[in-house]
Amino acid sequence: MTTNEYRQDFPILQTKINDEPLTYLDNAATSQKPQAVIDAMADFYAHGNANVHRGVYTLAAQATDRYEVVRDQVAQWLNAARREEVFFTRSTTDSLNWVVQTYGEQFVTAGDEIVVTVMEHHSNLVPWQQLAHRKGATLKYIGLTADGQLDLADARKQITAKTKVVAVAQASNVLGVTNPIKQLAQIAHAQNAILVVDGAQSIAHMAVDVQDLDADFYAFSAHKIYGPTGVGVLYGKYDLLSQLTPAQFGGEMISDVDWQTTEFAAIPERFEAGTPNICGVIGLGAALTYLQSVGLDTAQAIEQRLTKQLLTGLIAMPGITVYGPESPELHGPVVAFNVDNVHAHDIATGLDLAGVEIRAGHHCAQPLMRYLHVNATVRASVGLYNNSDDVDRLLTALESVKEFFES
Ligand SMILES: Cc1ncc(COP(=O)(O)O)c(C=O)c1O
Repeated sequence: MTTNEYRQDFPILQTKINDEPLTYLDNAATSQKPQAVIDAMADFYAHGNANVHRGVYTLAAQATDRYEVVRDQVAQWLNAARREEVFFTRSTTDSLNWVVQTYGEQFVTAGDEIVVTVMEHHSNLVPWQQLAHRKGATLKYIGLTADGQLDLADARKQITAKTKVVAVAQASNVLGVTNPIKQLAQIAHAQNAILVVDGAQSIAHMAVDVQDLDADFYAFSAHKIYGPTGVGVLYGKYDLLSQLTPAQFGGEMISDVDWQTTEFAAIPERFEAGTPNICGVIGLGAALTYLQSVGLDTAQAIEQRLTKQLLTGLIAMPGITVYGPESPELHGPVVAFNVDNVHAHDIATGLDLAGVEIRAGHHCAQPLMRYLHVNATVRASVGLYNNSDDVDRLLTALESVKEFFES
């Protein structure tokens, strides 16, 4: 199938790159935005702009309503038990740093263990690593099975009575695997540790139910789910949130300030100091409404079909190494690979000349690159607006680039 009725919703896909049609296959880095999101944000600035939570006038009340409706939408999207368990940040990175700066600072002490996986993005690794240095805690890693999946047997070994935090990506931004979050939650909770989930690569591609997963914290970025940059979400279980001192102080997060003391506002306002990215949050709401109208199942079906086409094409090509499971059933919409004797950046530059936009580099996962004994990989990742022509164009351009370097 070459048609994809959703392409027309994304104006950027009409763009030409190097006189070729844009073939956008870097959805893992950021997704493109549908017209509905662009319109909602333009409409807010054209007709609805006011600050939230402070004005008594109509425009301010309307802006606050629009902002708070998105909190409800996100809470429903994640199946949070209460809307107060959701608050807005700048990004996944910001959300994860927030957990480290609050829960980590308050509860991790010398001799404790923090357990991550070898596939973590730097955002879910460096903050924990730095906390471990500050506190005298130990950072431990869960390894992989031979086919590039998380090794649950190793998880059972690494997570011990000393573990305070287990921090793991729900889906890898390199290996394309989805991790067994429910089982990890059971293992972590059996040792009285909390489970922090980085949902950056999963939120747009699968239904997420934080109660079913039993995640203690769940972080994601709006820009990976067809929304704008500059907005992130952090979900936290209410009981945990109520034990935490805010990481930032200022306007909006107080209920009373005296000369020497401050009473904080209720949760979640207490965790949203200062003017938030109101327009961005409204854009996130429009993105969720859009994805709901497409249907997550429909998006998943498109992505699974294209991932299979991509994996099959790559595996059939001589001189290509694919990372992560080769079976399409086990592989999400992110496919990392290398071409023998050609640097990933040279492949990406060659593909760009054909209008094929993919990522090359370490993907902010340098420990994983070390684990795989590579410096970099090429990475193609599909979204709901891609079609089989996009994958064909990538495979055809890749053949030409390979031939060029082989000759
Ligand atoms: C798995 C994973 N975690 C975290 C992030 C960080 O997201 P952001 O840059 O939006 O904070 C990314 C971004 O690529 C990611 O892929």
